[in-house]
Amino acid sequence: MYLIFFGPPGVGKGTQAAIVAERMGWAHISTGDMLRAHARDGSELGRKARTFMDKGMLVPDDLVIDMFIARLGEIGERGFVLDGFPRTLVQARALDSALARRGQAIDLAINITAPDDVLVERMMGRAAESGRADDTPEAIRVRLEVQKPPAGLLDHYRSAGKLRDVDGRPAVPQVTEAIMEALGVGDASRPGSR
Ligand code: AP5
Ligand code: MG
Repeated sequence: MYLIFFGPPGVGKGTQAAIVAERMGWAHISTGDMLRAHARDGSELGRKARTFMDKGMLVPDDLVIDMFIARLGEIGERGFVLDGFPRTLVQARALDSALARRGQAIDLAINITAPDDVLVERMMGRAAESGRADDTPEAIRVRLEVQKPPAGLLDHYRSAGKLRDVDGRPAVPQVTEAIMEALGVGDASRPGSR
């Protein structure tokens, strides 16, 4: 299956994408993780991206799209979970075309939701653990303002009947089960279950 995880900053996209990808044997593609790796390596892309990321702004479409398409080319035919891409309609259209060239299409987009107070609490909690450069109060404020999935982007998938909303407020295992149910796999995919 080819999946997208949408949701505001800090809602748990990365946490859930890693669990679902591992459980199903799919690739997990996180553009945020890829951009942070570039920033750590000091590549030209990393240096450019960092000026936007540290402020909580989106990195320009062309930079992210080129990086994503290169990664997509590496994963072959296996299923994937996209975490943090697409973020704009321009990116969604680039994704559609790239998949069409491979004879593929997105099967389902999962939109994980939670109110701002929950998001802030989760990002501040992560800041204490991992020290991500954009988990500062100011960058969190900007991310919450400019980085929620825009309605037009969600409508692109909703109008195709491919969008499912999942409540991101419960504990991690409950959110995972709600996602598996939305995928139509439920508990059956759990190792050791019936
Ligand atoms: P990205 O890394 O994607 O950041 P983000 O969207 O702000 O999302 P986060 O990674 O902060 O949150 P998450 O939803 O993954 O939550 P997580 O699982 O970590 O992007 C970073 C930057 O890169 C962007 O700001 C932008 O500049 C740039 N970028 C990336 N993609 C781009 C694109 N396509 N176009 C342009 N720019 C792009 O969980 C958060 C915390 O909560 C963790 O500590 C976790 O343990 C905890 N948690 C998770 N779930 C639960 C739960 N159910 N209960 C309790 N705690 C939980
Ligand atoms: Mg993430």
